[in-house]
Amino acid sequence: MRKPMMAGNWKMNMNYHEAVVLTQELCNRVKRKDLDKVDVVICPPAISLRGALTVLDFDKTKISVGAQNVHWEDHGAFTGEISVPMLTDIGVEYCIVGHSERREMFAETDETVNLKVKALLDGKVKPIVCVGESLSIRDEGSAVSYVCAQVNAALAGLDDIDMANVTIAYEPIWAIGTGRTALPEQAQEICAAIRGQLRTMFGDEVADSTRILYGGSMKPANVEGLMAMEDIDGGLIGGASLISNDFKELIEVAAR
Ligand code: PGA
Repeated sequence: MRKPMMAGNWKMNMNYHEAVVLTQELCNRVKRKDLDKVDVVICPPAISLRGALTVLDFDKTKISVGAQNVHWEDHGAFTGEISVPMLTDIGVEYCIVGHSERREMFAETDETVNLKVKALLDGKVKPIVCVGESLSIRDEGSAVSYVCAQVNAALAGLDDIDMANVTIAYEPIWAIGTGRTALPEQAQEICAAIRGQLRTMFGDEVADSTRILYGGSMKPANVEGLMAMEDIDGGLIGGASLISNDFKELIEVAAR
């Protein structure tokens, strides 16, 4: 069985001190027994990664830390960028790649997503690879083929061993930060298609063991319906991950 994952994408929210406080709140609120049943990841802004890790280490809380972006080169003249070795040096375990906000606003392409995924796997950081369609693509009726093509491009050149460390997040762009969640059945349809794409690319074992998260306005009010779907193994959560009680509730539902 796939172990559920709840990952909080804090985006460009929380300054350093607020990030430390929120991490400590999660340590205090999230039930330890739930952390045996669910992999929980928080992804603060880069400047707060080490601060969050220090809080979690000190508190001995089994919550992992992820970055929101990375460059595929190890070092060099890339002003403003952060590399995989820099993440591993401070103990970062996961990294979000290809979020739609980065694709839309920072010129991330299928090609750079693939380079980043490979660099992360080489450096032993686990990628959370985001895919998802816009409203116009959904209205055209081509959401399934669009998302499967994104998966195909992001994971090109990977093998079964790599895939043991990859998580996919399906995030319909029209549901991100809009309060408009995909219906559980809509999310399930695409997540099942993603699993089918993994089956074509890597075979049954990888398809059945890879976690597929749903992201897009997931919150306590809608998490149960989404988590009840067969091919949804957790969530990538923006807004609700900034409220410790809400994030705690999402983890509780995933742990059931
Ligand atoms: P949201 O963001 O939960 O605020 O919709 C999700 C995401 O973009 O990862």
